[in-house]
Amino acid sequence: MSRTPLVAGNWKMNGRRSMAASLAAEIAAAAPAGVEVLLCPPLVYLDTVASAVQASDVVLGAQNLDEHEDGAFTGEVSAEMLVDVACRYVLVGHSERRTLFAESSARVADKFFRALDAGLRPVLCVGETLAEREAGNTEQVINAQLDAVFGRATAEQMVDTVIAYEPVWAIGTGMTASPEQAQAVHAHIRSRLASSFGAPLAQSLRLLYGGSVKADNAASLFAGADIDGGLVGGASLDAATFLAICQAATA
Ligand code: PGA
Repeated sequence: MSRTPLVAGNWKMNGRRSMAASLAAEIAAAAPAGVEVLLCPPLVYLDTVASAVQASDVVLGAQNLDEHEDGAFTGEVSAEMLVDVACRYVLVGHSERRTLFAESSARVADKFFRALDAGLRPVLCVGETLAEREAGNTEQVINAQLDAVFGRATAEQMVDTVIAYEPVWAIGTGMTASPEQAQAVHAHIRSRLASSFGAPLAQSLRLLYGGSVKADNAASLFAGADIDGGLVGGASLDAATFLAICQAATA
């Protein structure tokens, strides 16, 4: 089954309004065909980026959401608010949220389902630390992160979702998983999807690799049979670099 590749730029907590507007406009003007391009700017610049990409096929996402519906949750942002400012996707369970903000897998799952209920497509991020990999526990860690969601999901709900494999040791470190390491974990995730939800659904979902994806390693990573694009942090802050990564996903 052919899957349209997806490349997502996770800007994290970077940029200012003028940079958000110009970066998004440059990407919108030159985004290649044959790949879905997703931008996840800081929340306060969602509107700015929405305007900049409006006339293009580039889509908008958020980096986080609250797991509750609207209400007395000072400082938080609801799924409905993200939909209201034109978001189509939202990251859930990014390792920085899991580690720096103590988000448990159960809370990540709550956010995942809240996003779906509001009509957003969640990008579920999973990945092991270096210590976990070196102890031979990579699959076990990924399974636990996946099961928190899979155990509560129907195949119907999973249709609109994306899973991103991001080894924690590769995020922002310049250390990338080798194409073989990445493909092995992606194949494992797809087989878990197949055993939980059936092969047709497993074959239809996009699995992204994230962790120091750059213009010069994107093509070899995306060549993996189960790697359908990337979740890009640092390299998404430069239009030419990010566009080269998008281009690599079309091959
Ligand atoms: P990086 O970040 O590309 O800077 O490693 C990836 C991510 O955190 O999504």
